[in-house]
Amino acid sequence: MWRVKPLDQILATAEKKSLHRSLGAIQLTLLGIGAVIGTGIFVLTAEAAQKAGPGMMVSFIIAGAVCAVAALCYSELASMVPVAGSAYTYSYAVLGEIVAWLVGWALIMEYALGASAVAVGWSGYITGLLHSFAGITIPAALAAGPDGGGIFNLPAVIITALVTALLVVGTKESATANAVLVAIKVIALTAFVACTLPIMHLHNFHPFAPKGWGNPLGSGGTGVLGAAASIFFAYVGFDAVSTAAEETKNPQRNVPIGLIGSLVICTIFYLLVAGGAVGAYGAQPVYGPHGETIAAGSRALTERCAQLGAHLPLVCSREALAHVLRQVGHPLIGNILGLAAGFALPSVILLMMFGQTRIFFVMARDGLLPKVLSSVHPRFKTPHVVTMITGVGVAIAAGLLPVGKLADYSNSGTLFAFGVVSLAVMILRFTAKDRHRPFKAPLLFVVAPMSIVGCVVLFISLPIEAKLLFPIWSAIGLALYFSYGFWRSNVRRGVIDVEDLDGSAPGGPF
Ligand code: ALA
Repeated sequence: MWRVKPLDQILATAEKKSLHRSLGAIQLTLLGIGAVIGTGIFVLTAEAAQKAGPGMMVSFIIAGAVCAVAALCYSELASMVPVAGSAYTYSYAVLGEIVAWLVGWALIMEYALGASAVAVGWSGYITGLLHSFAGITIPAALAAGPDGGGIFNLPAVIITALVTALLVVGTKESATANAVLVAIKVIALTAFVACTLPIMHLHNFHPFAPKGWGNPLGSGGTGVLGAAASIFFAYVGFDAVSTAAEETKNPQRNVPIGLIGSLVICTIFYLLVAGGAVGAYGAQPVYGPHGETIAAGSRALTERCAQLGAHLPLVCSREALAHVLRQVGHPLIGNILGLAAGFALPSVILLMMFGQTRIFFVMARDGLLPKVLSSVHPRFKTPHVVTMITGVGVAIAAGLLPVGKLADYSNSGTLFAFGVVSLAVMILRFTAKDRHRPFKAPLLFVVAPMSIVGCVVLFISLPIEAKLLFPIWSAIGLALYFSYGFWRSNVRRGVIDVEDLDGSAPGGPF
């Protein structure tokens, strides 16, 4: 189970594809921003405020810093092993099959539950927009899952179905389409900042951190660190840049620019938006009638918010930014921002589901999952079976769970994968000393340990359910591995498999 897949064999697969190197630094940065800005800033700002109050601004900085160091580690591996499968493939080459399996299994949480989270975030905006713009109210039972006071989140399921259909027929998001969507998101966030910063009140920043740093060693999920662990979701997706290394001109220079550039731009936007929301409207947590703490995203919070009347606090909104704009006297801009989110968020769902299908596909191709999952549609040339299975899983989770929980679960898997990648990149500096590294992370032996510590701190700051779900999910994964993958693994059986499909190109759908 510690067998590795030789790097040369992995690269042989990649070489067969010989992608055209067309992406430059600007396109790569846009690619990163396109994959990163989504539900995190548009929706989870409310969750973060419930956990940390105005102190969520510090949470944004902490989460961004962890991502920045992880991003440097990702870049080095992506430039050395520029093939489909991302962290799963890197781990297979370095740490052995069982670790790779666990990483692939964790990536299912990252991508599938992440896609569900963005679908639920989209649903919040569309429901709000239909209500305030067109006067159409989606019945509460169909607008949210049980924790949100409903039964089933129908809009989230519909958008998941549409995105699944697009992936089955093989939609490729083009660099141009991505640039347009980035522009929409950036204009929407800029408008938000322009409307809120001039009307900031300093008193809205007091108390700054009503719940302190939080207690990661306890149940987690609260305080500045708890909010950082959740808002980490707002930065996820930058790995899209690292996986496009093979399609990049001069990757040594452009991949780090793309990764760090997109993270810096997103962090600046996030801080301005969070500052604007706090300063113009206030972002204090909501407490129970007797001053008791209420968990973010809980049914208790939904019920408490229902008692608070029309002037709802930020933390109660499912469309946080549009809500703030409407409340501070810009209803039209609020609706336009809602429309922008409605347009742009589906592309984030698409990217995450795309990532998920490709991970499944590569794991099946390696023999660790049943071969049927790697079957390719004769006409569309897409892995349709695995795409539809993913779509059903994403839709069920999106239909039933609230956005904050989904993001936290997704983060637990992502943090594990980032930690393993950071470890792998250090090990490779010893085991593959002479191998060509188009990009070499600076000060790796400072950066990678920082990344690992950051991932551990954020992981233990997650709410207790997310911390428990991850080991349970991994145990299920291990049981599956020992009953199937261990025996069927291509590496175990000595099968060298370089078959591929067009869409599995490392640059993803770009
Ligand atoms: N970072 C992406 C988002 O916030 C996943 O939606």
